[in-house]
Amino acid sequence: MNDFFQKDIISVRDFDKAKFESVFSATDKIIKMDPTQRREIGRGKTLGYLFFEPSTRTRLSFQAAMALIGGTSLGIADMASSSTKKGESLADTIKMISIYSDVLALRHPLDGSSRFASEISEKPVLNAGSGTEEHPTQAIQDLYTIKKEKNKIDGLKIGIVGDLKYGRTVYSLLYALSNYDVDIRLISPESLKIRADSIYEIQKKVSLKESTNLDEYIDELDVIYVTRIQKERFPDEEEYQKVRGSYKIGLDVVGKMKENAIILHPLPRVDEISTDVDSTKQAKYFQQAEYGKFTRAALLGLVLNEAGL
Ligand code: CP
Repeated sequence: MNDFFQKDIISVRDFDKAKFESVFSATDKIIKMDPTQRREIGRGKTLGYLFFEPSTRTRLSFQAAMALIGGTSLGIADMASSSTKKGESLADTIKMISIYSDVLALRHPLDGSSRFASEISEKPVLNAGSGTEEHPTQAIQDLYTIKKEKNKIDGLKIGIVGDLKYGRTVYSLLYALSNYDVDIRLISPESLKIRADSIYEIQKKVSLKESTNLDEYIDELDVIYVTRIQKERFPDEEEYQKVRGSYKIGLDVVGKMKENAIILHPLPRVDEISTDVDSTKQAKYFQQAEYGKFTRAALLGLVLNEAGL
């Protein structure tokens, strides 16, 4: 039986290097597989999704992934059209979707929401983003992208830039990277520094340095992971205005990077990477989004099939 069969995927903290590598290997297989054979993986299975926050990539790539492996999807992305509007509880909504499906993807603004859902759901729950806490399937696609584009993860110097306080992709990525031999640079405005309590354990495992100045590290990084400063997470609009536009990756910044460095971003972007960077060889964020379809197809295949892929 494979390690993921009928298991929830709530936190990257539940992964070790071997687990990541088995998802990467399943992803490679999915990409290479004959389409007819691939559609057998999810035949007769249904993904249920519940998105209480906006999403383009995560929801659509989950749906695309399910279609890729021959399954179907149903769910709610616009809560105003659901019976939550009539007062139905989160618990009952989760229960209903889990009855109608074989696996459930949940995005919700509260930390702990996916863990809560896993206690109620009759089917495995995949965390598609929980509050400011975690976004584990994003971290899996991020690591897979690094591995594909740099041919390795160990030995790299990785800079994470932007909103490190509220960015759930940042925490999942850091937990994931702590399984590897990497050097990490955290670059953010003073008020958006990483939550020290959340990385207490990571600090013992990887080398971390912090700065507010991207120029301090730009020419030594192998990977620059840029994040959006998330207006919607700030309790006070005035505080957002003080830090908006703190980092802008334009062609001038790309010119300071190592020739073979790559730029990643979980997306969506607002103005932190200018569109003229998109055509540079360092820009890998759209490729990263495409890999998300394949890594999610691999995860769904592993969760739904006892024998694995
Ligand atoms: N990266 C990501 O989670 O994008 P969406 O919010 O569009 O799903």
